[in-house]
Amino acid sequence: MALWGGRFTSDTNQDVAEFTESISFDKRLYKYDIMGSKAHVTMLAKQNIIPTETATAICAELTKIEEKIDNKKFEFSFDLEDIHMHIETALIESLGKEGARVHTARSRNDQVALDTRLYLRDEVTIICSAIKELQKSLVELGDENIDAILPGFTHLQHAQPVLFAHHLLAYVEMLSRDIERLEECRTRFNVLPLGSGAIAGTTLPISREIVAELLDFPAITRNSMDTVADRDFACELLSNLSIFAMHISRLSEDIILWSSQEFNFIELDDAFCTGSSLMPQKKNPDIAEIARGKTARIYGDLMSLLTLCKGLPLTYNRDLQEDKEPLFDAIDTVKLILKVYAPMVATMNINKDNMLKAASDPNLMATDIAEKLVELDVPFRDAHHRVGALVKWCKENSKELNEVSLDEMKISIPEADKSFLDLFSPLSSIEKREILGATGPKEVNKQIKFWRDKLIE
Ligand code: ARG
Repeated sequence: MALWGGRFTSDTNQDVAEFTESISFDKRLYKYDIMGSKAHVTMLAKQNIIPTETATAICAELTKIEEKIDNKKFEFSFDLEDIHMHIETALIESLGKEGARVHTARSRNDQVALDTRLYLRDEVTIICSAIKELQKSLVELGDENIDAILPGFTHLQHAQPVLFAHHLLAYVEMLSRDIERLEECRTRFNVLPLGSGAIAGTTLPISREIVAELLDFPAITRNSMDTVADRDFACELLSNLSIFAMHISRLSEDIILWSSQEFNFIELDDAFCTGSSLMPQKKNPDIAEIARGKTARIYGDLMSLLTLCKGLPLTYNRDLQEDKEPLFDAIDTVKLILKVYAPMVATMNINKDNMLKAASDPNLMATDIAEKLVELDVPFRDAHHRVGALVKWCKENSKELNEVSLDEMKISIPEADKSFLDLFSPLSSIEKREILGATGPKEVNKQIKFWRDKLIE
């Protein structure tokens, strides 16, 4: 008979046990469950709710159970539903009546909320430091190739020349906001839920402050009903992971494009690509593709959880047991992506010549001509129009912008002088852009230094 079976006359049907179990996935919470129970019984003893010897014996036994699980010597079974029941049952098996005191003034409803929150504390730390490693790889790659210039794109059309490092640092910025978001949502889940009981708290004189202190929670939840019903901290985390994945997916798309034959800007290291079973010549950017694909899965996890919660009346409903698989899946997936992504970035080879060739398309410097006219006091809209006319003239006369003579240029731009003919080098175009946030080499070097200092911190 299950631990909750006092009012039942028959055992659970085996199919029902299999249908309702969560041990197959919540066993990963065992360390947090044990940590929580230790703090809980320590507090119960301090408050004279259970004898001190009982609390000591329970803590010692919990350590043994933890070792057993660590060493894969602990037996899990569907009949015991979840990790909480497994650990409590093991305690009672070894300590009898004294073990049966562990669940005093506690419900699995506040217990599972506690375990999940403790688990997220660790996982967010791990994920943030892995994102930092990826940022370091991007900064490093940019710095090593600080002289590489490529065309920047808008609408996937050549726009203006930019430093390759500038492009990479754009992702470093996005990733830093991802870290910020993940750290900020910690303030929401790093709050002690235990003590809320099943829904309404407890009649026993527990001290939630003691538990909060023992488990290093800076805050305690204020409403027991909210506490056992709430999963918005998990929704928030999954939203943040989804945004992170969206960034990774965009970087992946850039990497996939850059490594295509059409662009040929980079070559991924052999160790981070795979071949085709049919076409012998192929070398595919699979990591980037799979990361882009796994983004869909992380969005799916977020959608599962939001949909799971939307129709639930207060407070705890068993549906909430289904929160864990999407949460774990998104966390595992993000960690998996990060594990291969940083070394893939670190080992990629850059084809600077091809990048520069593409960035040398004189059309990319059309804006520079217009801005030069602004310096000569031509209103920008008129300047834009004149350069547009020049581009049109070039098309009609089958010439590139940098092939026109000064007289030909003057047809569209009467203000042009000889210096206008020198505007078509991507390097000098970049060197003129030294305002804060722009792609000038001095500015980008400053940004690299900023990130180096920040990431070493
Ligand atoms: N396994 C459950 C979950 O993950 C634990 C809480 C169960 N509570 C209950 N009253 N049946 O949500």
